[in-house]
Amino acid sequence: MRNHLIFLLAVLVLMSIVLVSCSKDEATSPTNEFETRPYTLVMPSNMPAPILPQDNPLTYEGIALGKALFFEKMMSKDGTVSCGSCHNQGNAFTDNDKKFSEGIEGKIGDRNSMPIFNMFYHTKGFFWDGRAKLLRDQSLGPIENPLEMGETLENVMNKLQAESKYRNLFYKAFGDSTVSSLKMSLAMEQFMLTFVSGNSKFDKVERSEAQFTMSELRGKELFFTEFETSGGARGADCFHCHATADFSNHEFMNNGLDSESEFTDLGRAMFTKRPTDNAKFKTPSLRNVAVSGPYMHDGRFATLTEVIEHYNSGIKESPTLDVNIHGIKDGMNLTEQEKLDLIAFLNTLTDEVYLNNQEYKESN
Ligand code: HEC
Ligand code: HEC
Repeated sequence: MRNHLIFLLAVLVLMSIVLVSCSKDEATSPTNEFETRPYTLVMPSNMPAPILPQDNPLTYEGIALGKALFFEKMMSKDGTVSCGSCHNQGNAFTDNDKKFSEGIEGKIGDRNSMPIFNMFYHTKGFFWDGRAKLLRDQSLGPIENPLEMGETLENVMNKLQAESKYRNLFYKAFGDSTVSSLKMSLAMEQFMLTFVSGNSKFDKVERSEAQFTMSELRGKELFFTEFETSGGARGADCFHCHATADFSNHEFMNNGLDSESEFTDLGRAMFTKRPTDNAKFKTPSLRNVAVSGPYMHDGRFATLTEVIEHYNSGIKESPTLDVNIHGIKDGMNLTEQEKLDLIAFLNTLTDEVYLNNQEYKESN
């Protein structure tokens, strides 16, 4: 029995030596011992702890690979489009003023690009309809989308495998220079999880490092107060859905953009096939909203003024209209000053630290 065990152990040790030396041979720079350094997300003190995936710990090497992939145009069929083409940092990683994003060969998509930050709070799914459960699932979607990058995963993997730069980056991140779609998705997930936004004026006020103007303060009160028709406190009811420190519950809701006969994009229902999900879309975070226009899943509103007017007087009834918005369906009658106050408050959510963070920029 004991001899057996010793033999087994010896075999195991031998096997691991062989394995380690194999993967070493594959590495382009054999001087690099495989060792990753853990990366700690630094959260501003007023923000809740991030919910990070247990099975994909952040490492400097994983993030570096994810970043290279994010800005890699080889990921698209004709080498013209990277993730970064439709996700610009200066616009909270949305598309610069475009209603619909442009993919390969100038093809136009059918939805507005979404902002990327604080992804670790999104526990209900990704995309406007939530069809990707995890961020890593999401990250492979655009590659094969014919309107976005239009490439097959297999071709992308072959192209990356042929480059010593990528063999090296994959080795450093995962101890194995073989490119795989799983590793690609894990690395991109890691990179996107490092985008933290929690240093806007709003956050500074929360931390007693700054003060609101009177207009911003009135806007904040409107935002966080219930709308009451019966002459009670006067609010604009935004906080129901744009809740929590991330200004979103990340749930799928219908905020009254269209009546039933006008539904063109069924949103969440395209994925769940449930009519009760018709025209429900992921509630976007309102952080950095001043720089992420145009607004809504189809980019129908160019300015925040138009968005406020929608909530003030444009809510359309339909069977899936959210209950929290029912109260304002007949209009809120906000004064011009109140509308300006709400916008002033929304403008305090712009986070220059995140928008300019060098760590998220394409490396040379
Ligand atoms: C052609 C433009 C385009 C390209 C290229 C593109 N995206 Fe997007 N991205 C979009 C659009 C449009 C949406 C919303 C799509 C939808 O809901 O159907 C989106 C959604 C997302 C989301 C969801 C955010 C959320 O809150 O749910 C993430 C994350 C994201 N993209 C990351 C990436 C990554 C990573 C890549 C590269 C592999 C990429 N994108 C390539 C346009 C693009
Ligand atoms: C019932 C939930 C709900 C309430 C209440 C609500 N919203 Fe929204 N909001 C949403 C949803 C859902 C979307 C995305 C809808 C879509 O794109 O189809 C959205 C989108 C937005 C957008 C566009 C963001 C972007 O990135 O495109 C802004 C700005 C916004 N809301 C501000 C507000 C303000 C200000 C209030 C209060 C006056 C408010 N919302 C009240 C659910 C809500």
